[in-house]
Amino acid sequence: MSATLTSTIVEPVSSLLLNGTTKKPEAEEEPYKYAHLMPVYSKDKYPPLEPFNHVDGGSRALTHTNPRSFLNNANVVELTPNFGSDVRGVNLAELTPDQKDELALEVARRGVVVFRDQMDFIDRGAAFYTEWGRHFGPLHIHPTSGHPEGFPYIHLVYKDANSRFNTEGLTTTVWHSDFSFELQPPGLTTFFLLSQPKSGGDTLYSSQVQNFRTLSPIMQDFLRTLKATHSGFDSLRSTKGGVVRRDPIETIHPVVRRHPVTGEEALYVNKQFTRKIVGMKKEESDGGLTSDDNIDLLLNFLYDHIAKSGDHQARIKWEPMSMVLWDNRVAAHSAISDYGHLKARRHGARITPQAERPIPALASMKMAD
Ligand SMILES: [Fe+2]
Repeated sequence: MSATLTSTIVEPVSSLLLNGTTKKPEAEEEPYKYAHLMPVYSKDKYPPLEPFNHVDGGSRALTHTNPRSFLNNANVVELTPNFGSDVRGVNLAELTPDQKDELALEVARRGVVVFRDQMDFIDRGAAFYTEWGRHFGPLHIHPTSGHPEGFPYIHLVYKDANSRFNTEGLTTTVWHSDFSFELQPPGLTTFFLLSQPKSGGDTLYSSQVQNFRTLSPIMQDFLRTLKATHSGFDSLRSTKGGVVRRDPIETIHPVVRRHPVTGEEALYVNKQFTRKIVGMKKEESDGGLTSDDNIDLLLNFLYDHIAKSGDHQARIKWEPMSMVLWDNRVAAHSAISDYGHLKARRHGARITPQAERPIPALASMKMAD
């Protein structure tokens, strides 16, 4: 039997097309373009975060003649009247330091902004991502998640056909502000996908400014006087890589914080990390109802308000090469894991600069050292 005949016989049936040509076998598919950004789970340990003096880039932009000049040639579509924008025509990778400050101000004002067609930025790699984030503040290292080899400051999310999806609950929605339990939680935050399913995995955002503004004046006055405990302990109970690189902490923050640049007041509680209103008695907090998780009645009301207020929400659909920037001080968000059955890869990177310790909306409120 000749070599030519043999090769014809062993051609996999699955690769034969009706017109007699062949398609590429699976094993010969293109190598994954972002393989160098696959997550690794280092066993490094990190000390507690150090306090620092935060100067917000957005405050520098307030003195610019036109603080929105970086959008001069852009097409900006408002996702809702009060919250969220969708921008085309800006290359984030080419922004000057002044324009980055303008970007910080714009995102503080709009809460969340998606920038489309950002392949230039995304293809520059992890060292560039790190440099980008440092313009806005010291970068937070995620205590448990994977990161690109050698770049611990870049938090990666990763799921593919072999990943397990939690389908036990009614929904995968978990509203939160990233790391609100830190003493100086994140401000301007950048996230983008390197690979994604053909649909699904959208991200929900909610305006905590609007969520606060729509409450009655008497409720606003009451909330301004309150503090709440935020805890990182629960979120570290189950970790994908089995690594906890920095010990969790619990921190008390004002329930209503003031943005250092816009001056706007925002609700600052979230179901994932906020645990208790400081100083409330049990009867006041659980209202006489049984409470499995000891979450305050008042907190439950606020969580419900955040979750149900569709008029303060925006939903980001992930076109390829999109980057989303949001201000964690004024926007809550939730991932949506609705794509498990697609058996597709979803690979994303987050750059997470820390900002100031939350400023109480009530100027006379004292926070312990
Ligand atoms: Fe998040």
